[in-house]
Amino acid sequence: MATQARERRFEIVPMKMADLDGIMEIERGSFSAPWSRQVFVEELDREWAQVDVVRVRDGVMLGAIVGFVNYWLVRDEVHILNVASHPSARRQGHASRLLEHVIGFAHRHKCRYVTLEVRRSNASAIRLYRKYGFRPVGIRPHYYVEDNEDAIVMLLDLG
Ligand SMILES: CC(C)(COP(=O)(O)OP(=O)(O)OC[C@H]1O[C@@H](n2cnc3c(N)ncnc32)[C@H](O)[C@@H]1OP(=O)(O)O)[C@@H](O)C(=O)NCCC(=O)NCCS
Repeated sequence: MATQARERRFEIVPMKMADLDGIMEIERGSFSAPWSRQVFVEELDREWAQVDVVRVRDGVMLGAIVGFVNYWLVRDEVHILNVASHPSARRQGHASRLLEHVIGFAHRHKCRYVTLEVRRSNASAIRLYRKYGFRPVGIRPHYYVEDNEDAIVMLLDLG
């Protein structure tokens, strides 16, 4: 019962223009080289792109955005470009909710894979992805141009 009540406190819905400020706050609090507003605006126009947000449905935080995910549907693959939760709302299951949501989307679209890149040093994110069955399948050397860090390519095989 407690879990059900908790789930009703949040909804995952497609991003609207009005959500941009909330998304940018999370983006800036999460990444050393945050994307610009323009990147997110452009995502809204791409037919194959999706940005979904976790929105609080009750209490003093009503309407606040506490996480988001950006992903592309490309043939039989979903590629996750960006996932983050608000720095003040971490370890509360928001990224897990978003990943479950994307994996469900991939199943419904009969995809074979979900893929993503993650910084080699990002232990929290790697642990999150492993929890959902992603495994490392390759390295992209010096993938992040700001500091030359390698990316690990991770893949979830949906069979
Ligand atoms: C990585 C990130 C998305 C996790 O978001 P979150 O909402 O805190 O994640 P959840 O509460 O759903 O945690 C799910 C699992 O992730 C892992 N995890 C998350 N934060 C962790 C941390 N600080 N240390 C270790 N493991 C962590 C754990 O396995 C956790 O499961 P558990 O709580 O049962 O141990 C969040 O820390 C974040 O936004 N980081 C900055 C942006 C980023 O690096 N995104 C990934 C880009 S590839």
